[in-house]
Amino acid sequence: MADKLIIFDTTLRDGEQSPGASMTRDEKLRIARQLERLKVDVIEAGFAASSNGDFECIKAIAEVIKDSTICSLARANDRDIARAAEALKPAKSGRLHLFLATSALHMEKKLRMTPDQVFEQARLSVRFARNLMADIEFSPEDGYRSDPDFLCRVLEAVIQEGATTINVPDTVGYAIPELYGNFIKDLRERIPNSDKAIWSVHCHNDLGMAVANSLAGVKIGGARQVECTINGLGERAGNCSLEEIVMAVKTRKDYFGLDLDVDTKHILATSRMVSQTTGFVVQPNKAVVGANAFAHASGIHQDGVLKARDTYEIIRAEDVGWSANKIVLGKLSGRNAFKARLQELGVAMDSELDINNAFVKFKDLADRKSEIFDEDILALVSDESVSHDNEQYHFISLSQHSETGERPQASVVFSVHGKEVKSNSGGNGPVDASLKAIESYVKSGAEMVLYSVNAISGSTESQGEVTVRLQNSGRVVNGVGADPDIVVASAKAYLSALNKLQSKADRVAAQG
Ligand code: KIV
Ligand code: ZN
Repeated sequence: MADKLIIFDTTLRDGEQSPGASMTRDEKLRIARQLERLKVDVIEAGFAASSNGDFECIKAIAEVIKDSTICSLARANDRDIARAAEALKPAKSGRLHLFLATSALHMEKKLRMTPDQVFEQARLSVRFARNLMADIEFSPEDGYRSDPDFLCRVLEAVIQEGATTINVPDTVGYAIPELYGNFIKDLRERIPNSDKAIWSVHCHNDLGMAVANSLAGVKIGGARQVECTINGLGERAGNCSLEEIVMAVKTRKDYFGLDLDVDTKHILATSRMVSQTTGFVVQPNKAVVGANAFAHASGIHQDGVLKARDTYEIIRAEDVGWSANKIVLGKLSGRNAFKARLQELGVAMDSELDINNAFVKFKDLADRKSEIFDEDILALVSDESVSHDNEQYHFISLSQHSETGERPQASVVFSVHGKEVKSNSGGNGPVDASLKAIESYVKSGAEMVLYSVNAISGSTESQGEVTVRLQNSGRVVNGVGADPDIVVASAKAYLSALNKLQSKADRVAAQG
């Protein structure tokens, strides 16, 4: 039997560190459920000591997820570790992930600690964690830029104290595949007790090589765990992308010789869910999950694929969740057909009430849009299965007038803590007028740093999906809204961003 490659998903922790990608508890729970459906081995659910919100999210995820190990990040100190262990208490299978920087630069400038102090802290923290939980991962932050001799000393000691997984981060995305692969290989060869731990890779994408580096860590270095995120989400240029790693190892099993448990047919639905939740749009030419990933534009390619699909396709689109039949439902489709399609798309709604609510919205959409695509359904349910109970603002209706040569005017009706308000404004265009109308009532003072519109299913009949990124007092949030009317989608996205800005966040500085 082939060796197994462990897939460690950190979308909810490292991915969430992207500017504006922060997610609510309900959103995280929903993504965690989807990751479990995708059969990832480990879900890093957050960083418990960073905020009470993160603590509660990890706890809630640990309570409901049974088939994946739930992990919390912790700095290598007793307080963080105890807090993470507390959050993980309900988990059927839990893991503590400790990290401490080991590069000369980080030790001197960030930690202001000597190498001996770092060595001692690493050792004692793993000893402390091991008394609380059996499954302990240790990461020497900025590991790839650390002195190999010092790293060997630290890693040998933490394995001796009981660390079961050793993860070697390329925290700043500096590595080159061959060099990173050999770096891991050398560590494993030099550390006498290296065989007592599973070796893991964690690569950032600053030079666009996160996936290549991770694969080299597996192939050359012998790592058996890859840390990755859906859509490669992550701060700066992002992390190693889960869908690319998984499909590379699966498609080239002849080369890697490794098994994976991931159920690839849920990849697309997971990618869509993460993109719609965070507002990070997937580029059309993104491998595996981009809109063009299986589109053949040139006549020669189309002809070849029609004759024999493997002339130009190395992955079957259906294997990663793309459906051949893109027009799925319409106005006359019933609740059962809708429910069945949700299941095919890998969207599990837990209660009949959620399904009923989503079905009402589906019917409403079908009245306004003749063909309903998978993308429409995913956008619709992405909003539906998240509770909006604690949100301050809700969109109700909008009217706007624009005419060549006239200044556009908009009037937006929305609720504030359940009370209906109406606000009017002019603007440079109908979208600008609508958002100004909302802002003139709310007076958030937030600066808009990004506005983007994307046609969900590619034509003008499509729903528009709008992302709005707001910045206020050092906080950055993304709001997403979808509707066949892009002015309405924009107003929904703006209100969604305002709701996120209102929710208190008291987390400590993001790590790694
Ligand atoms: O990039 C990094 O170093 C990290 C660690 C905390 C594992 O995310
Ligand atoms: Zn990281």
